[in-house]
Amino acid sequence: MNKQDKIIETLHIKINDIIKDRKKIQEAAKLLRAGHLVAFPTETVYGLGASALNPAAVRSIYTAKGRPSDNPLIVHIDVFEKIDSIAIGIPEVAVTLAKHFWPGPLTLVLKAASTVPSIVTGGLNTVAVRIPDHPVALELIKMAEVPVAAPSANISGGPSPTLAHHVIKDLGGRIAAVLDSGPCRIGLESTVLDLTSKIPRILRPGGITLEDLKEVLPEVILPTKKAFSEEDKPLAPGMKYRHYAPQAPLFLLEGSENRVRDELKKLILDYSKKDYKVGILTASPLNIEDSQAFVVFDLRGAKNPGEAAAKLFESLRNMDEAGVDIIIAEGISEKGIGFAVMNRLRKAAGKNIINL
Ligand code: TXA
Ligand code: MG
Repeated sequence: MNKQDKIIETLHIKINDIIKDRKKIQEAAKLLRAGHLVAFPTETVYGLGASALNPAAVRSIYTAKGRPSDNPLIVHIDVFEKIDSIAIGIPEVAVTLAKHFWPGPLTLVLKAASTVPSIVTGGLNTVAVRIPDHPVALELIKMAEVPVAAPSANISGGPSPTLAHHVIKDLGGRIAAVLDSGPCRIGLESTVLDLTSKIPRILRPGGITLEDLKEVLPEVILPTKKAFSEEDKPLAPGMKYRHYAPQAPLFLLEGSENRVRDELKKLILDYSKKDYKVGILTASPLNIEDSQAFVVFDLRGAKNPGEAAAKLFESLRNMDEAGVDIIIAEGISEKGIGFAVMNRLRKAAGKNIINL
């Protein structure tokens, strides 16, 4: 935190029951309407919300997160009818997708309405919109009576928050409040789908899988691997940065299961000998002794990618808390949500991907 940053008290507001705790959500909605920042749970990750129609409030999101200002934000609404206040020329396919997937982890990129401040869109003429599938988020947006711009509520570049205490660790003292309703169900961000290109294309894989989308929209395409990487012109501006990354360097092992296993064991031994504390993300149990030297987080990815997704960011944060010097992760199957998990792991690894 810079010296000049003002430290404010961040209210930690627990929501156990959407009906009994109505007043508390109302209080948070009031803060949003008054131009303050409020973090809230969604089914994907915690978001850092500001009134999308208040440019000064939106600007403070970028300051709080240390986010580059060319990286646009997702606008969250609670009911489909409000889409007209955000976007224009809504294609029929958006209506069909919304019927199938909203509320849910799908973000649609559409032509922006002129009422959307350019600080929200990063100066683009498009805008990203979604309806989150979380009762607290929906109630908050409804009560705020404004569309809510919200990126993930983490310091830019780090793993997204899936628990309220992750938000407090990253942004406590910089934001007005966080609504806490426990862990996020999916644990990875929404799928970002561009509907302004000739053929609808996925800009960021996420909670709605390619397989899910193809059932409704057979023509949907995935850009090449290169388009998700730093070398090519990034499609979603946010995808050009090293991202989702823990503090310790992360090495990702990809390739045949046996070779990955052998390399993992070799690396663990090598680094342990050097007195490194090694963090390991595995897809299946490891039989190595000397558990002092390393911390294992079992993603159980091969059998259950959904569980791997839900635990990924939390595991990366826990590794940092445990003070590991290095993290070695095994790649998992790219089927279903495994594709989004691997996208995040590759981003977190940066150049440290070992193909075996
Ligand atoms: O699940 C989620 O999507 C969470 C929750 C809070 O809704 N939000 C989230 O926001 O992950 P953020 O800001 O961390 O990621 C938004 C992504 C970025 O990669 C950004 O570049 C892209 O969406 N994006 C936003 N507006 C866009 C636009 N107009 N065109 C292309 N990409 C856009
Ligand atoms: Mg983010």
